[in-house]
Amino acid sequence: MSWAVLVLLCAGLGACLAAGTTGAPGAPPTPRLRVKFGLRRSADAEDEGCALELGSERSLEECGFNATARTFLIIHGWTMSGMFETWLGSLVSALQEREKDANVVVVDWLSLAHQLYTDAVNNTQVVGKSIARLLNWLQEIPLFKLENVHLIGYSLGAHVAGFAGNHVHGTIGRITGLDPAGPMFEGVDPSRRLSPDDAAFVDVLHTYTRETLGVSIGIQMPVGHVDIYPNGGDFQPGCGLSDVLGAIAYGTIGEVVKCEHERSVHLFVDSLVNQDKQSFAFQCTDSSRFKKGICLSCRKNRCSGIGYNARRTRHKRNSKMYLKTRADMPFKVYHYQMKMHVFSYNNAGEADPTFSVTLHGTNRDSEPLSLEVLEQIGLNATNTFLVYTEEDMGELLKIKLTWDGASQSWYDLWKELRSYWYRPAKSSQELHIRRIRVKSGETQQRFAFCVEDSQLTSISPGKELWFVKCTDVWKRRSVSNTL
Ligand SMILES: *[C@@H]1O[C@H](CO)[C@@H](O)[C@H](O)[C@H]1NC(C)=O
Ligand SMILES: *[C@@H]1O[C@H](CO)[C@@H](O)[C@H](O)[C@H]1NC(C)=O
Ligand SMILES: *[C@@H]1O[C@H](CO)[C@@H](O)[C@H](O)[C@H]1NC(C)=O
Repeated sequence: MSWAVLVLLCAGLGACLAAGTTGAPGAPPTPRLRVKFGLRRSADAEDEGCALELGSERSLEECGFNATARTFLIIHGWTMSGMFETWLGSLVSALQEREKDANVVVVDWLSLAHQLYTDAVNNTQVVGKSIARLLNWLQEIPLFKLENVHLIGYSLGAHVAGFAGNHVHGTIGRITGLDPAGPMFEGVDPSRRLSPDDAAFVDVLHTYTRETLGVSIGIQMPVGHVDIYPNGGDFQPGCGLSDVLGAIAYGTIGEVVKCEHERSVHLFVDSLVNQDKQSFAFQCTDSSRFKKGICLSCRKNRCSGIGYNARRTRHKRNSKMYLKTRADMPFKVYHYQMKMHVFSYNNAGEADPTFSVTLHGTNRDSEPLSLEVLEQIGLNATNTFLVYTEEDMGELLKIKLTWDGASQSWYDLWKELRSYWYRPAKSSQELHIRRIRVKSGETQQRFAFCVEDSQLTSISPGKELWFVKCTDVWKRRSVSNTL
């Protein structure tokens, strides 16, 4: 492992020396390093739950283990504190709420995870094998089925789940990887990390895949059947400083790392509890194509719920999916693809417009939403944009397109003055747009919006254009024709 990884991990997660103290001189004797399985009866994070003892059918009875119900095993990651983190309680209670009969088991490998990162990584194999042994034994219990088992692993815990799936006899139903750890797993052989071979369905949420000093806390490569990258998998909204080196300098890096890495857990919890506000993700080859609004199709299973609601699609591996989210729960947003042909009649070669749209719907109106431009707006070309709203607009009725920014800079003014002198015809800062084609990602409905007054299609800096449903324009025209 490179020094960069250590610097980042240490800066990010507290202090390296805090971990790996087992066996320090003068310290009390090291407790036996082992893995414990606590069946949770309540959501109380302090309550360790009822211990399942491998080989003891009595412990199953005492704990009220239901062999026919679903079994969730929650697997934590590397730990600096040696204690469960607060997200654990939220995940336990969300699972209990969603699946009332289910056995919710917390895999406690704190003593093996509270080590130097490299040692904790080495321990993931042992812990995975220990889970596999428990599952092999449970398979001897009548009616217990491996297909009803769902492992949920966070960070290093995701790879632990992978090793469990690798070593167990038979095939586990499902593994969910919540931002699987990157350092020492990125790019390695599938047998040494979480991979689609580890369960019938492996779904992954990637929330911290931003590279700093050559490493990423969360693994960047797809490692499941379905790999979902919310907000591109890098900057999560609401997580503060986006400049990681700046955050290291200011000592706030720990919060940013925790916020973005842990966002995967909260997105999963959201998918369990907010069933009426389910987020959708869309298949795309990469994040920049998604940001351009190119990928909002649900055809041929190209879109899916996320988190608990993610669905396996046949014959697919490493299918990358993307979505935008809000900064907190419920995370759902409403995605729209906007396509417009931008005409430039009078050779406005220099025009580099910044547009925003305001959506007017049956439920409400949006704020002005700026159209993100990754390259330049194509003139005499069809441009595609992605916009999203935090609220449900309902059915769209009208769109206002605005050319943002100060209408003229001094330079533009001078140019205009000059062109006024030499080419008095028209200002070069003028473009024409006749229609906007809109597709909703959530409903898959498409609408065409036509400029409200077909005589007025021009837009220039500081100006706006209104668009209404094209059918409305046609209706109006046919009415005026009959009059
Ligand atoms: C066990 O789980 C099954 C399936 O979810 C359910 O039908 C049954 O009522 C549960 N049994 C008990 C004793 O809770
Ligand atoms: C990993 O742990 C095993 C014992 O579980 C030990 O024998 C081995 O040396 C460790 N490997 C590394 C690279 O630390
Ligand atoms: C766009 O097309 C028009 C008419 O075909 C042409 O006059 C104009 O120069 C073109 N503009 C650009 C920027 O290519």
